[in-house]
Amino acid sequence: MWRKVAALCLMVLLVAPSLSAQAREKDQRRTNPTEELPAGPMQAKATTACTECHEARIILQQRLSKAAWTKEVDKMAKWGALVDAADRDALIDYLSANFGPDKPAYEPPRTADKIASGKSK
Ligand code: HEC
Repeated sequence: MWRKVAALCLMVLLVAPSLSAQAREKDQRRTNPTEELPAGPMQAKATTACTECHEARIILQQRLSKAAWTKEVDKMAKWGALVDAADRDALIDYLSANFGPDKPAYEPPRTADKIASGKSK
Protein backbone atom coordinates (compact mmCIF):
# COMPACT_ATOMS: atom_id res chain seq x y z
CA MET A 1 0.00 0.00 0.00
CA TRP A 2 2.63 2.57 1.05
CA ARG A 3 4.84 1.57 -1.80
CA LYS A 4 2.01 2.36 -4.21
CA VAL A 5 1.48 5.76 -2.59
CA ALA A 6 5.19 6.50 -2.79
CA ALA A 7 5.31 5.48 -6.44
CA LEU A 8 2.35 7.73 -7.18
CA CYS A 9 4.01 10.68 -5.41
CA LEU A 10 7.17 10.10 -7.38
CA MET A 11 5.22 10.10 -10.65
CA VAL A 12 3.51 13.36 -9.75
CA LEU A 13 6.87 14.90 -8.90
CA LEU A 14 8.33 13.79 -12.21
CA VAL A 15 5.40 14.83 -14.41
CA ALA A 16 4.41 18.12 -12.79
CA PRO A 17 7.43 20.20 -13.85
CA SER A 18 7.05 19.31 -17.52
CA LEU A 19 3.34 20.15 -17.40
CA SER A 20 4.04 23.54 -15.88
CA ALA A 21 6.72 24.20 -18.49
CA GLN A 22 4.17 23.46 -21.18
CA ALA A 23 1.66 25.79 -19.57
CA ARG A 24 4.29 28.52 -19.34
CA GLU A 25 5.12 28.18 -23.02
CA LYS A 26 1.44 28.35 -23.91
CA ASP A 27 1.03 31.48 -21.79
CA GLN A 28 3.99 33.11 -23.45
CA ARG A 29 2.58 32.44 -26.88
CA ARG A 30 -0.79 33.80 -25.83
CA THR A 31 0.63 37.01 -24.39
CA ASN A 32 2.99 37.45 -27.34
CA PRO A 33 0.92 36.54 -30.37
CA THR A 34 3.21 38.49 -32.67
CA GLU A 35 5.82 35.83 -33.23
CA GLU A 36 9.28 36.70 -34.41
CA LEU A 37 11.36 35.74 -37.40
CA PRO A 38 13.95 33.06 -36.56
CA ALA A 39 17.59 33.72 -35.71
CA GLY A 40 19.95 33.93 -38.65
CA PRO A 41 22.18 36.31 -40.55
CA MET A 42 19.19 38.15 -42.07
CA GLN A 43 16.93 38.22 -39.02
CA ALA A 44 17.36 41.92 -38.26
CA LYS A 45 17.12 43.11 -41.84
CA ALA A 46 14.16 40.84 -42.59
CA THR A 47 12.37 42.09 -39.48
CA THR A 48 12.90 45.69 -40.54
CA ALA A 49 11.96 45.15 -44.18
CA CYS A 50 9.20 42.58 -43.78
CA THR A 51 7.22 43.46 -40.67
CA GLU A 52 6.49 47.05 -41.60
CA CYS A 53 3.07 46.30 -43.12
CA HIS A 54 2.14 42.96 -41.54
CA GLU A 55 3.15 40.67 -38.70
CA ALA A 56 5.97 38.15 -39.02
CA ARG A 57 3.33 35.45 -38.70
CA ILE A 58 2.27 35.81 -42.34
CA ILE A 59 5.83 34.77 -43.22
CA LEU A 60 6.12 32.03 -40.56
CA GLN A 61 3.03 30.36 -42.00
CA GLN A 62 4.53 29.85 -45.46
CA ARG A 63 6.19 26.70 -46.80
CA LEU A 64 7.55 27.82 -50.14
CA SER A 65 10.19 26.70 -52.60
CA LYS A 66 13.11 28.99 -53.32
CA ALA A 67 11.52 29.98 -56.64
CA ALA A 68 8.32 30.93 -54.83
CA TRP A 69 10.23 32.93 -52.18
CA THR A 70 12.02 34.77 -54.97
CA LYS A 71 8.67 35.79 -56.47
CA GLU A 72 7.34 36.65 -53.03
CA VAL A 73 10.25 38.91 -52.08
CA ASP A 74 10.16 40.66 -55.47
CA LYS A 75 6.40 41.13 -55.17
CA MET A 76 6.74 42.63 -51.69
CA ALA A 77 9.52 44.93 -52.93
CA LYS A 78 7.23 46.06 -55.73
CA TRP A 79 4.57 46.74 -53.13
CA GLY A 80 6.99 48.89 -51.17
CA ALA A 81 9.20 46.66 -48.99
CA LEU A 82 12.58 48.28 -48.56
CA VAL A 83 14.97 45.52 -49.60
CA ASP A 84 18.48 46.61 -50.49
CA ALA A 85 19.48 45.06 -53.84
CA ALA A 86 22.63 43.76 -52.14
CA ASP A 87 20.51 41.90 -49.55
CA ARG A 88 17.91 40.40 -51.90
CA ASP A 89 19.62 37.05 -52.50
CA ALA A 90 20.59 36.56 -48.85
CA LEU A 91 17.04 37.37 -47.82
CA ILE A 92 15.63 34.82 -50.27
CA ASP A 93 18.13 32.22 -48.96
CA TYR A 94 17.16 32.97 -45.36
CA LEU A 95 13.44 32.62 -46.08
CA SER A 96 13.92 29.47 -48.16
CA ALA A 97 16.09 27.84 -45.49
CA ASN A 98 13.62 28.56 -42.70
CA PHE A 99 10.29 28.26 -44.50
CA GLY A 100 10.80 25.66 -47.20
CA PRO A 101 8.36 22.90 -48.19
CA ASP A 102 10.29 20.34 -46.08
CA LYS A 103 9.61 22.15 -42.79
CA PRO A 104 6.92 20.87 -40.45
CA ALA A 105 3.59 22.64 -40.74
CA TYR A 106 3.20 25.93 -38.93
CA GLU A 107 1.38 25.58 -35.62
CA PRO A 108 -0.77 28.60 -34.98
CA PRO A 109 -0.77 29.75 -31.36
CA ARG A 110 -4.25 29.42 -29.94
CA THR A 111 -5.68 32.45 -28.23
CA ALA A 112 -8.51 30.75 -26.39
CA ASP A 113 -8.23 27.93 -23.85
CA LYS A 114 -11.48 26.52 -25.14
CA ILE A 115 -9.96 25.95 -28.56
CA ALA A 116 -6.58 24.78 -27.22
CA SER A 117 -8.08 22.16 -24.92
CA GLY A 118 -10.09 20.77 -27.83
CA LYS A 119 -6.84 19.54 -29.32
CA SER A 120 -6.40 15.80 -29.12
CA LYS A 121 -2.94 15.90 -27.56
C1 HEC B 1 4.63 47.85 -48.13
C2 HEC B 1 3.99 46.89 -47.28
C3 HEC B 1 4.59 45.50 -47.17
C4 HEC B 1 5.88 45.18 -46.85
C5 HEC B 1 7.01 46.11 -46.44
C6 HEC B 1 5.96 43.72 -46.93
N1 HEC B 1 4.75 43.20 -47.23
FE1 HEC B 1 4.27 41.23 -47.37
N2 HEC B 1 2.33 41.71 -47.73
C7 HEC B 1 1.84 43.00 -47.88
C8 HEC B 1 0.42 42.93 -48.19
C9 HEC B 1 -0.48 44.12 -48.41
C10 HEC B 1 0.10 41.57 -48.21
C11 HEC B 1 -1.24 40.93 -48.52
C12 HEC B 1 -2.28 41.33 -47.59
C13 HEC B 1 -2.25 40.60 -46.31
O1 HEC B 1 -2.54 39.39 -46.34
O2 HEC B 1 -1.98 41.21 -45.25
C14 HEC B 1 1.31 40.83 -47.92
C15 HEC B 1 1.38 39.46 -47.86
C16 HEC B 1 2.54 38.74 -47.67
C17 HEC B 1 2.62 37.29 -47.68
C18 HEC B 1 1.46 36.32 -47.86
C19 HEC B 1 1.37 35.81 -49.26
C20 HEC B 1 0.95 36.87 -50.25
O3 HEC B 1 1.71 37.06 -51.19
O4 HEC B 1 -0.09 37.51 -50.05
C21 HEC B 1 3.93 36.98 -47.49
C22 HEC B 1 4.55 35.59 -47.44
C23 HEC B 1 4.67 38.22 -47.34
N3 HEC B 1 3.79 39.27 -47.44
C24 HEC B 1 6.03 38.29 -47.17
C25 HEC B 1 6.74 39.49 -47.03
C26 HEC B 1 8.18 39.56 -46.94
C27 HEC B 1 9.12 38.37 -46.97
C28 HEC B 1 8.49 40.88 -46.82
C29 HEC B 1 9.87 41.49 -46.73
C30 HEC B 1 10.69 41.33 -47.92
C31 HEC B 1 7.23 41.64 -46.84
N4 HEC B 1 6.20 40.74 -46.99
C32 HEC B 1 7.12 42.99 -46.72
C33 HEC B 1 2.55 44.16 -47.74
C34 HEC B 1 3.88 44.25 -47.42
